[in-house]
Amino acid sequence: MDSSHTLYQKLADDLSLAIRRGTLPPGARLPSVRRTAQSRQISLNTVVSAYRVLEDRGLIEARPQSGYYVRARLPPPARPASTQSGPAKDTEHQVLDLIGVVLDAQQQPDFIDLALACPRGGDFYPGGKLTRLMGQILRRQPGMLNNYALPPGSERLRTQIARRGLDLGMTLQPDNIILTHGCMEALQLALRAVTQPGDTVGLESPTYFNLLPMMASLGLKTIEIPTDPQTGLSVDAVELLLGEKRIKALMAMPNVHNPLGCCMPLEAKKRLARLVNHYQVPLIEDALYAELQFSDTLSPAVKAFDSDGWVIVCASYTKTLAPDFRIGWMEGGRFEPALRKLKFASSVAEPAVLSETIGAFLESGGYDHHLRSLKRRYAAHVEKVRGLIARHFPPGTRATSPAGGFLIWVELPEEIDSVALFHAAIAEKISIIPGPLSSPSGRYRNALRLSCCYPLDERYLAALVRVGILAGQLAAHRP
Ligand SMILES: Cc1ncc(COP(=O)(O)O)c(C=O)c1O
Repeated sequence: MDSSHTLYQKLADDLSLAIRRGTLPPGARLPSVRRTAQSRQISLNTVVSAYRVLEDRGLIEARPQSGYYVRARLPPPARPASTQSGPAKDTEHQVLDLIGVVLDAQQQPDFIDLALACPRGGDFYPGGKLTRLMGQILRRQPGMLNNYALPPGSERLRTQIARRGLDLGMTLQPDNIILTHGCMEALQLALRAVTQPGDTVGLESPTYFNLLPMMASLGLKTIEIPTDPQTGLSVDAVELLLGEKRIKALMAMPNVHNPLGCCMPLEAKKRLARLVNHYQVPLIEDALYAELQFSDTLSPAVKAFDSDGWVIVCASYTKTLAPDFRIGWMEGGRFEPALRKLKFASSVAEPAVLSETIGAFLESGGYDHHLRSLKRRYAAHVEKVRGLIARHFPPGTRATSPAGGFLIWVELPEEIDSVALFHAAIAEKISIIPGPLSSPSGRYRNALRLSCCYPLDERYLAALVRVGILAGQLAAHRP
């Protein structure tokens, strides 16, 4: 063994120990290569080799033009369970009741929200610019507020939506776009257009919790499809279900899944599009978070590969521009005529002043810049929160490393009940989403969803640490 080999190994071992003992905590920046070389009186090459060893051990990561950082020690959550047919009615009711309890808890004054996916604060939305644009629009068209908005609604906005669709690989026509009251209405109209009460819909598992009351209100049954925390919906499982004609429709979030934050690989998306077109079963694609992918180049929507109009794509501007405007949209493929009728019967049209304001913002060219800074901010929030989870949650905790957005799915050691954790946290005015909310059959008892779309001030960070401590206490009290 030559001396340089020993030197770099010794340095790697020293630093590994410092990381394991927490002297260098997750997220900490390592001294630069030059500084370490000077302080240890060794060559630059020796330090670089040691840092490579640490990278190989998964302990640190290089960030372009910034240096080396200690990685959060959080393995990804376990792989998904098998396909699960609709739950028993009482399980479904328990899950729905629990959703009610979680939402009620949000009403408490002074609670700290680690739960909902509702970005809060002027930092996340271009409120000032939207206010100015709305003022200009109303000054130019003072009669706007006195007129009923009628379909199809703002052409300006529909044109911009079609243009932005290109970034996700979709070629949409402004005339085919239906404006909706948030993404929620788009999803609901899509379900109503393609199903009847009593039908079964395939859902990712885990899924966005608000889809469960929606399914229940439409009298739909669900089937949970395994969804990998890193690669998303299992297309193999979908193929099986389609082949056996077990689902009337499929609902999925192929890009930046809620709650897992993952994007499906490109080939899986293409295969999914081929399958739904082949079996002629509609796919309702929830693309709400698709533009919040952290990568500069966005991975395309499944809609981009839709050959015969079996994909209905739904999205909104509630996470990126203005939550209170509730402006969403959908492109319904072969179901467009039915969707137009349903939209008119449901809520007629979207307010012109709001649609025009979003259209004007998108036209002004500021959206790309806004999205870039939003994504940078969320990526930093996610990293910081993952670091805190690694440090303060019980050993054995796992968590997703999302490809975009601001949600983290945390898997606690098996003995910890996230519903008990939710109640313990609520008693201290901290709100989280317990895992069973994300599954019609109440799975994921030891998981929870955390949201980092709030300013990470001391209150927020202290609440997060507190949840970790409470989880540890619950683990300790188990026999
Ligand atoms: C995956 C997903 N789809 C749809 C919605 C609803 O979106 P909107 O607020 O635009 O109705 C949400 C809201 O959190 C969501 O997370």
